[in-house]
Amino acid sequence: MQKVLVTGGCGYIGAHTIVDLINHGFEVVSVDSNIRSTTQLLEGVEKITGKKVRNYKVDLCNLEDTHAVFHENRDIVGVIHFAALKSVGESVNDPLYYFQNNITSLVNVLKCIKEFNVPNFVFSSSCSVYGNTTALPVVEETPLGEAQSPYARTKQMGEQIIEDYSRVNNTQSILLRYFNPVGAHSSALIGELPLGKPDNLVPVITQVAIGKLPKLTVFGTNYPTRDGSCIRDYIHVMDIANAHTKALQYLLEKRNTDNCEVLNLGTGNGVTVLEAIRAFEKVSGVKLNYELGEARPGDVIAIYANNSKAREKLGWTPETGIEDSMRTAWQWEVALRDRVLNN
Ligand code: NAD
Ligand code: WQD
Repeated sequence: MQKVLVTGGCGYIGAHTIVDLINHGFEVVSVDSNIRSTTQLLEGVEKITGKKVRNYKVDLCNLEDTHAVFHENRDIVGVIHFAALKSVGESVNDPLYYFQNNITSLVNVLKCIKEFNVPNFVFSSSCSVYGNTTALPVVEETPLGEAQSPYARTKQMGEQIIEDYSRVNNTQSILLRYFNPVGAHSSALIGELPLGKPDNLVPVITQVAIGKLPKLTVFGTNYPTRDGSCIRDYIHVMDIANAHTKALQYLLEKRNTDNCEVLNLGTGNGVTVLEAIRAFEKVSGVKLNYELGEARPGDVIAIYANNSKAREKLGWTPETGIEDSMRTAWQWEVALRDRVLNN
């Protein structure tokens, strides 16, 4: 069995990816300091797959501790690096915290990859690297715009660090630029678990619907779009997860044409905020309490992916549309409530 080291494995996308990796025959170890998570999702992973995944509770900013994990796992065939802080607003208020955590952890992971000759590396990047682009759908070659937050800048810098590193070392890397990951595993045993009040649209929708939050505000209704609200590319988290497995297989089979390749992970379809709300109402049968409000500073009007490169190179096809994404997000929120009620 080929062993993969996943950083941030206790988080939202990491946990879903671990399920897909295990389902495709990989053995997985996780490193997560739990600064933004608990081990709850790994317990869900075990229920789904029947496999217990070990998590090393290590802060990747600590080189010595990170080194010890790599030393104990010399037989890994690759690293998938999810661990990072990801709140845009928090990064605006505390940029140094974001640079310290996201960049130091990445550099430490790469130092260990170099020392232990790990051949393959997959990095969580983000469509936020494109900044305020108007060329839609976005292709990977689109010149990166000005980062709209320190968080987005850590992703731009992270990509550059990996590109420079891969050029002169033996590691093959893939940078995956996610658009808007949403939804949950169909079992409702794992899903998005925001600590505190969520910022992102889908957890806000499900938390309003379940009664944890009083109301949703649609941020901006006068944008030049078909209904005045912003357009995004909402992609199901299991589709994102599967792209990681396929990216790793692609590297292991040496099908890559460059030491460092970049791929967009989106559905290719733009959906407005109001369309997302209607999709949720349709599949949940819940009438959402929402109001039309002011635009949120820093929001881009519209962004969605051209995903041809990921389709062609990886043989990947996103399979879940907005309605099924909303359905699984809702089933997860209901499962969380039922768990609290039953305890
Ligand atoms: P998440 O917060 O659920 O998971 C990230 C995990 O990393 C957390 O469990 C956290 O405890 C851990 N972590 C953070 N810093 C660490 C450190 N120094 N050492 C060890 N562990 C650390 O986030 P997610 O949504 O699963 O995102 C995963 C990755 O995908 C991140 O890099 C994020 O920036 C990127 N991304 C996320 C989205 C999104 O909307 N969710 C979109 C694009 C890119
Ligand atoms: C989606 C749409 C909001 C909440 C962020 C990061 C990006 C990436 C994904 C990590 C927007 C609208 C939202 C609400 C609303 N993350 N909205 N009311 O801003 O596209 O992207 O997450 O890399 O880097 O910037 O996602 O889910 O916050 O917003 O109307 O209460 O929903 O205005 O149009 P966003 P989001």
